[in-house]
Amino acid sequence: MKIITSIEALRDQLRGQLRTVFVPTMGNLHEGHLSLMRLARQHGDPIVASIFVNRLQFGPNEDFDKYPRTFQADVEKLENEGVYVLFAPTEKDLYPEPQAFRVSPPDDLGNILEGEFRPGFFTGVTTVVLKLFSCVQPGAAVFGKKDYQQLMMVRNMAKQFALPTKIIAAETWRAEDGLALSSRNMYLSPAERAEAPALYAELSAVAQEVRDGHLDIFALEHSAMARLAGRGWKPDYIAIRKRVDLQPPSAGDLAQNEPLVVLAAAKLGVTRLIDNLEI
Ligand code: PAF
Repeated sequence: MKIITSIEALRDQLRGQLRTVFVPTMGNLHEGHLSLMRLARQHGDPIVASIFVNRLQFGPNEDFDKYPRTFQADVEKLENEGVYVLFAPTEKDLYPEPQAFRVSPPDDLGNILEGEFRPGFFTGVTTVVLKLFSCVQPGAAVFGKKDYQQLMMVRNMAKQFALPTKIIAAETWRAEDGLALSSRNMYLSPAERAEAPALYAELSAVAQEVRDGHLDIFALEHSAMARLAGRGWKPDYIAIRKRVDLQPPSAGDLAQNEPLVVLAAAKLGVTRLIDNLEI
């Protein structure tokens, strides 16, 4: 595997490659990321991964400084997955001058759910993804469904800007007890780690209620949040939304079996976890 830091060297290395599949990450790789690499392999060749902790998508009080950085271990894992190039730019490589041009996500998707609780997050994500796409010029790129809204945002951006990159969705990778794998799980104390699967359990319970025909969405969301709060969590949201645009379903949507997803974000101690489940 070639480890490349500069945009120029990356361009030289990838010149003429038309079927590159790209997997952008912020490092601290776990099985979930590796499953993205395996899915990438089914969609083209070569595979290019990136590791870049993108300051633009962190709020001023978020965990940019303490975000886990485990570069050597990550390199070994990617080598084992047959990744051809690891693009690992420094901040100076990717943002040699302040990134003044930025992507402006639409309010209806950008300011809800994660966007409501993390102002500027999706501007930061879409800006870096567009820039990374411009560096790698992939035919396809893989994003996990764990970050459901991010996946939708990237998909819509690719469509509206007519990017020549197909966006591929990868299923969420879970621990045996249901907890979605995330780099942020490593902030959890042993007691919090034992409690953490309760988030997925609540999502599963809500999904089951909807499938059973309990369609008072507001009541379902509120009782799930109250149960989590009762166990010591601080929920930001549990929201039943339409898969197509992440807007709340109307009574008519529910009557017509509109495909739904339930999404959640909640803090356990200092750790903010997100998860979702398609219903
Ligand atoms: O999901 C992530 O790890 C990041 O948001 C991404 C897509 C690599 C952009 O920094």
